[in-house]
Amino acid sequence: QSAQKGGYRHFMLKEIFEQPTVITNCLAGRLDLKNRTVSLPELDALEIPEQIQIVACGTSYHAGLWGQHLLESWAQIPVRVEIASEFRYRNPIFKSEDMILAISQSGETADTLASMRLAKEHGVKVLGLCNVVGSSVAREADTTILTQAGPEISVASTKAMCSQLILLTLLALYWGRRKQTLPANVESSIITGLLDLPQILEAELPLLRSRAQELAPAYSTARSFFYLGRGMSFPLALEGALKLKEISYIHAEGYAAGEMKHGPIALIEPEFPTFALALNDALLPKTVSNLVEVQARNGKVIALCHSGFDLEVDHTWEIPNAQGPLSTFLALPALQLFAYEMAVYLGKDVDQPRNLAKSVTVE
Ligand code: G6P
Repeated sequence: QSAQKGGYRHFMLKEIFEQPTVITNCLAGRLDLKNRTVSLPELDALEIPEQIQIVACGTSYHAGLWGQHLLESWAQIPVRVEIASEFRYRNPIFKSEDMILAISQSGETADTLASMRLAKEHGVKVLGLCNVVGSSVAREADTTILTQAGPEISVASTKAMCSQLILLTLLALYWGRRKQTLPANVESSIITGLLDLPQILEAELPLLRSRAQELAPAYSTARSFFYLGRGMSFPLALEGALKLKEISYIHAEGYAAGEMKHGPIALIEPEFPTFALALNDALLPKTVSNLVEVQARNGKVIALCHSGFDLEVDHTWEIPNAQGPLSTFLALPALQLFAYEMAVYLGKDVDQPRNLAKSVTVE
């Protein structure tokens, strides 16, 4: 097994560090470099959906929440995202011009499969976004897009989410062009940004890891954590909290920063720190004012922010600037590495966390 870990101490760490390669593999063959457009020929024969219903579980669900933003803003397709175990039991309304997008790393998650089978029974087309060739999702979906992250061994999903986010970005660009809702120059500049990502991330990963190693001891006595974000950073906050729960067993809640005032802020005290996603987007001033509220209640704050933003918090964690939503591909490994280094510092079994399974094939 140690050979398979390629010199890394854990599969999780290896898989986090594979993300630059994963991005390269996900883009391979899916970009028309001459015309600077996305090429997804498997979708060319399909009608553009009127509405998309995303169903997924766990980390894949968070990927769906993130993708909703781009599908709506670039392709102007209304998107709903639901946890598969909820969707399957609530008599959802199906329309034949809609599409179900089932996101699953393993392609074997029971609730996700049941949701897509239900949709098929109602005559709705299913698009699968899946990492495992020949899995149930890949076989049963009407059309499948493979995420090409390679085998993911660590129970806590890392590189698979990265691949899902890349494919969701490509899907939004693709439908945005077909619907003519996205200007060609935006598509082309996002493509440039995507092509630059692997190299930027490769250089950045060791720095992210060092910062995670510095911060972990300072926060290792926390009993609970908030992860706060807004907009596209909200799903990342959910994912950051999930990673910390899964492998370090520290209670963590991902919350929409603007919702804190409606209850959760009552919990803030020095032993209940906040990990804030304070990236430079249109909502940053609002996130910052949410953090001021946390600090006014003596809550400690780590803020993940872009270089050059000198936020007045206990610890800033700077990542390089990337184009718009592509900052996610630097923020996500920071969250993964923070959870990883916390778990290692606390002596937890990173690759085999208690009570968890890689793939949940029963209800
Ligand atoms: C399990 C895994 C998670 C994963 C979830 C959904 O809970 O531990 O890491 O996100 O299942 O899995 P899927 O294979 O459908 O993406």
